[in-house]
Amino acid sequence: MKQINSIKDMQKLIAEEKRAGKVIGFVPTMGYLHDGHLSLIERAKKESDVIVVSIFVNPLQFGPNEDFDRYPRDLERDEKLALKAGADVLFFPDTKEMYPKESVVTVSVNKRVDALCGESRVGHFDGVATVLTKLFHIVSPDYAYFGLKDAQQVAVIEGLVEDFNFPINVIGCETKREVDGLAMSSRNVYLNDRERQEAVHLNASLIKAEKWLLEGDSGETEQKMIKYLEEHTSGVVDYCKILSYPELLPPTPQSKRLIIAVAVKFSNARLIDNVILDNILCRPESEEETCSVR
Ligand code: PAF
Repeated sequence: MKQINSIKDMQKLIAEEKRAGKVIGFVPTMGYLHDGHLSLIERAKKESDVIVVSIFVNPLQFGPNEDFDRYPRDLERDEKLALKAGADVLFFPDTKEMYPKESVVTVSVNKRVDALCGESRVGHFDGVATVLTKLFHIVSPDYAYFGLKDAQQVAVIEGLVEDFNFPINVIGCETKREVDGLAMSSRNVYLNDRERQEAVHLNASLIKAEKWLLEGDSGETEQKMIKYLEEHTSGVVDYCKILSYPELLPPTPQSKRLIIAVAVKFSNARLIDNVILDNILCRPESEEETCSVR
């Protein structure tokens, strides 16, 4: 596995691989790799010849009171894991390399950010879109892989790639879970023992919500989820929402795909999870514009 920390070297290597006709698969990460990331690398190997994994904790996507400074970092461990999963190139620029001076231009996301994490983490997706615009130019991948645990992020990235005409296939991959159902996340290490046990209820609340919807929702699913999470965790519920996907708007009878999404703040970690459902509902009793799940 090649290890590169300079943008110039990365671009040089990619140019050589492209000249040789190689298909580039890209797994952008902020490091502290877990099985979810490794499954993205394994998936990338199915479609691509050269797998690039980037590790960069992007300051632009953290708010002033968020966990940028204490975000878990362990490059040595990540190197071993990425190699074992089959990465060919590990790209780990530092902040000076990525942002050598104050930016003249950054990307601003206009849609798909007024709800869920975009609402509680103002500016977060501008930071994600800006760093990915840079990384996409540096790595020029044919395929880019992202976990659907961050489904809103995937929706924003699909918009970015479409609007800015990046010749990249964005592949959203299923959320990897621990055996008890907790979605894998680098931030799970922040949970204390009690919170780790409680965190399983995020997934449980989604399973229940899906059942409530299938049984015929009376517009109370979000409230019922909040109640369930308040009863079963010590965390503070940030949101429980049912929205159309990928638009992230209130569902209408025309919404073919829905997301049920949840975020809970524990003492040192804010966890998110979701489930995306195809064609399951929006069977309103009337022809009202808004769907019955609201
Ligand atoms: O999902 C992440 O780890 C980050 O948001 C990403 C896509 C690597 C951009 O910094």
